[in-house]
Amino acid sequence: MNSKKIRQSFIKFFENKKHHKVASAPVLPYDDKSLLFTNAGMNQFKSIFLDLEKPKYIRVVNSQKCIRVSGKHNDLEEVGRDGFHHTFFEMLGNWSFGDYYKKEAIQWAWELFTEVWKLDKSRLWVTVFKDDDEAYNLWEKETDIDKSRIIKCGKKDNFWEMAETGPCGPCSEIHYYVGDDLENQNAKHVNNSSDYWELWNLVFIQNNRLKDGTLEDLPNKHVDTGAGLERICSVLQGKNSNYETDLFSETISDLEKISKTKYIDNEVTYNVICDHIRMLSFAIADGVLPSNEGRGYVVRRVLRRASKFVMNLDFKRNQYYINWSNQLFPQCLTLILN
Ligand code: ALA
Repeated sequence: MNSKKIRQSFIKFFENKKHHKVASAPVLPYDDKSLLFTNAGMNQFKSIFLDLEKPKYIRVVNSQKCIRVSGKHNDLEEVGRDGFHHTFFEMLGNWSFGDYYKKEAIQWAWELFTEVWKLDKSRLWVTVFKDDDEAYNLWEKETDIDKSRIIKCGKKDNFWEMAETGPCGPCSEIHYYVGDDLENQNAKHVNNSSDYWELWNLVFIQNNRLKDGTLEDLPNKHVDTGAGLERICSVLQGKNSNYETDLFSETISDLEKISKTKYIDNEVTYNVICDHIRMLSFAIADGVLPSNEGRGYVVRRVLRRASKFVMNLDFKRNQYYINWSNQLFPQCLTLILN
């Protein structure tokens, strides 16, 4: 399945469960000083969670453009070191605003993964917040996951917060073992090894973090989920890295042509350039231009970082050295428009 079909099948699955499809918000957050960039699908629904706005629909689904290069969620330093972290990625999500809660969120995530997409159950692991017996029991009773694959973890891994303040709550994550040694999987390696990829996070939004650090209960309980499209494509397309999926193949082949180098000889450098060019294209398209402060400064830093990696490819003898961004940006914009 190509990435377009995977995205569509996620949306369709939840439309069939009475969710209304909404558009991605821009990566430039609207009226929210707690964030530099949209870092999760739930950002655009913050005022619904805080009970400041009534939802138009009580179940929604979408694919959200996200940037994680600052604040609480910052993956910049991981990019290139592995094949599955990005500064820009698409988050597939389903939401319940005071409607269904943990049971359906868990049942449906398992159904989509194991019955629709047919992911190998002997590679799947689930984590729940250590105090969340309800979620633990639901995984055990409502799905056919092997009990030994349900792990309790602490606040660092299983209590999700969007920023220093705002809606938050305990979460349950689904991880996938991408390694070769099926017989030697180990619960202790989940969250601690690059062989185990977090694919989907189910957050049970029930609290609000205040400026003084205290937590208050929200008037209603909500579901906020996020699944990384790039990682899911990688797993469903049987690849070892997100950069080997169709989401990146055109950019990689353009870069090979322009630079007269090969991906296979420069994997990390190519990965960083391809990641950064997507982040830059989407940020600029949504109105954040490189500048000396705030969001613009982050964009400028990423642009300089991408340029630094381009130098690794030794473009100097090549007329395209100066023009690399002119060549790649239009291609990325074509990706945006598609
Ligand atoms: N908001 C949750 C996350 O970003 C789903 O992981």
